[in-house]
Amino acid sequence: MHSARFRRKKLNQACGGNVMKQELCRITDLVDAVPKLVKVDNRAIAVIQIEADIYAIDARCPHWDAIMASGTISKKRREITCPMHRFRYSLVDGACVASPSRPSIATYAVTLDEGRVIADIGP
Ligand code: FES
Repeated sequence: MHSARFRRKKLNQACGGNVMKQELCRITDLVDAVPKLVKVDNRAIAVIQIEADIYAIDARCPHWDAIMASGTISKKRREITCPMHRFRYSLVDGACVASPSRPSIATYAVTLDEGRVIADIGP
């Protein structure tokens, strides 16, 4: 699952394998259904809150690199629409909705820890 209900979880700064937990922002920084662009190390991530769920996806569209933080959100379908060519991606699993054969957008598992939005990102 790539979303987080509003619940507390223990934060591990680093885990085994290829997963690393990284603070993206605070929950109070987010506005419902408005993507927030966050820079973590040398990558850009879009953080999206929809009601009680939080999603984190790559901020670059896998098609032609448009900034997904400028995309529009469908709260009902849990999707983001790319601002450039209007491809729609699932916020849940990153799949390109209209054309499943196209590359997916990367998604990151998100948890909350005392108001901090934490994502599992790779090395
Ligand atoms: S750049 Fe996003 S759909 Fe083309």
